[in-house]
Amino acid sequence: MCGIVGYIGREESAPFLLEGLEKLEYRGYDSAGVAVYGPDGLRVAKAKGRLKVLAEKIDGGRAIPGTVGIGHTRWATHGAPSDVNSHPQTSAGGKFAVVHNGIIENYLYLKNHLIRRGVEFVSETDTEVVAQLLEYYYDGNVMEAIRKVVEKVEGSYALGILCEDFPDRLFAVRKDSPLIVGLGRGENYIASDIPAILSKTRDICRLKDNEIAVLTRSNVGFFDIDGYFLEKPVEYIEWDVESAEKGGYEHFMMKEICEQPKAVHDTISPRIRDGRIVLDDIALTKEDLERFRKIFVVACGTAYYVGVVAKYAIESMVGIPVEADVASEFRYRSPVIGPDTLVLIISQSGETADTLAALREAKHAGCRVLSIVNVVGSSIANESDDVLYTWAGPEISVASTKAYSTQLALVYLLAIHFAELLGKKSPEECAALLAAVEKLPEQIESLLAHKENIQFFASRYFNAGDIYFIGRNIDYAASLEASLKLKEISYIHSEAYAAGELKHGPISLIEEGTLVVALATHTGLFDKMMSNIREVKARGAVVLGITTEDKLEALTAQADMVFPIPSTETCFLPSLSIIPMQLFAYYVASMKGCDIDKPRNLAKSVTVE
Ligand code: G6P
Repeated sequence: MCGIVGYIGREESAPFLLEGLEKLEYRGYDSAGVAVYGPDGLRVAKAKGRLKVLAEKIDGGRAIPGTVGIGHTRWATHGAPSDVNSHPQTSAGGKFAVVHNGIIENYLYLKNHLIRRGVEFVSETDTEVVAQLLEYYYDGNVMEAIRKVVEKVEGSYALGILCEDFPDRLFAVRKDSPLIVGLGRGENYIASDIPAILSKTRDICRLKDNEIAVLTRSNVGFFDIDGYFLEKPVEYIEWDVESAEKGGYEHFMMKEICEQPKAVHDTISPRIRDGRIVLDDIALTKEDLERFRKIFVVACGTAYYVGVVAKYAIESMVGIPVEADVASEFRYRSPVIGPDTLVLIISQSGETADTLAALREAKHAGCRVLSIVNVVGSSIANESDDVLYTWAGPEISVASTKAYSTQLALVYLLAIHFAELLGKKSPEECAALLAAVEKLPEQIESLLAHKENIQFFASRYFNAGDIYFIGRNIDYAASLEASLKLKEISYIHSEAYAAGELKHGPISLIEEGTLVVALATHTGLFDKMMSNIREVKARGAVVLGITTEDKLEALTAQADMVFPIPSTETCFLPSLSIIPMQLFAYYVASMKGCDIDKPRNLAKSVTVE
């Protein structure tokens, strides 16, 4: 999400900031800006759109001279892409300029607090709160102001800070969002990502949570939050620019798979306060919900498969009938919808042509439209009645992974929220469900720690001609996404079947050595799945089983290899079972030498019909 670069040295800073930001373009962004300290004091230039719009505005950097500066590419989270919402954000008195990656979770509370004390805000961003707070606490000591801000803000942040009173200093601090300091000769740098500064230096120090860096031209001081000096090791970066862009991973897909614990955490944690769900961003009331006789979930591709999980989750927790439909079908089939229908639109990009058209059909029929979207200010977000954003950051690999996981997480929060509003679950039950959602990031992390088991299995079967995925209930829903992941990047023919349908057709395709992936995580349906596994084994299938740890032994007796996942509430199991499946698709495609991040014939965002 977003990109930061900062410079302090003897050369003009703005041209270098533009160059560094260009190296971060691969991350995706919607606007950019720089702040430079020069002969005329602190000057800021920002522009919505591509970097070249900013570069033209400041004549390649020549229009804002100065040898100290910070720059930023923004991926909108709070407030649509616009000049004013771009970073750097400044404090009202102009003392501080700030660039920020991450999310300030309690920004609304802090903003209201400052507004009551007469501070005037100009943007919708959470970042402006940091700039304003710095000035609010500042009494001549920047370190002290930073310390107080860090105490107040909740969430994740990497911050680059300039203070008007200290033209020879650049400050940086972080928590849960990466920030590095680059060491040069007579110049030093900060960056969110290594590629931004790789043309200048390969010597870096990584800031840890709550560490503050103070950069001058000749020196960098590192301090803990209490102001004590820290010795930090210097790391020499051997990567080339391309692998640096991928954070050292071979492909964006693997990078994004590994980002899922953080992406899910970032998406859910701002929406949970004191053990309760707070969906400030949507205006749906209990009365609205009571009016809905049906919920349609409409989307394309991976987002549609989130919709299939949503059907099981919402129906079982809330008791309202749910229909999941692909947008290209929904829009042309005269669905029975009206003011008593809630249409839940799911889209990573917010621009998918069929999904947008389906949304317009729904609006035209008088439905209430709630969307789950990753791109702030996108068409789907703009045209929906209510929007919930997944804070996954830009997803670059065509095969969607972290978007899927964050969309699922929001579906769970919605289901619990609806169940609570309608009194379908007791407060205790809701609290237990919520606790299970909060645990998902660490559970996903624990699964990622055992990648090599899946890699081993993939190494034995990557030459398979056909692969079948079977499951029941939420395992069937997850199978659909598992099969899509595999086919889109490995080009292996694969299909997902509801396991109960096996004997109505697909079992005729099973022969000696056919690979079947059996998702058997649903405890209540485990025995049924065991019967299905026996059926395919009896016909010669090789079975990879996915189940919860408590069922590991039972499944191992039947399957050729079993990958266990931690237990969670039944409806949330797809968030865990999909992880080995994403890894399986990735390793199979990698062993086949496929172009993993850009599979043939596919596009990341399908904006035409
Ligand atoms: C394309 C992408 C998929 C994505 C689908 C829907 O097919 O390759 O990864 O799931 O579009 O995109 P959306 O942006 O609406 O989620």
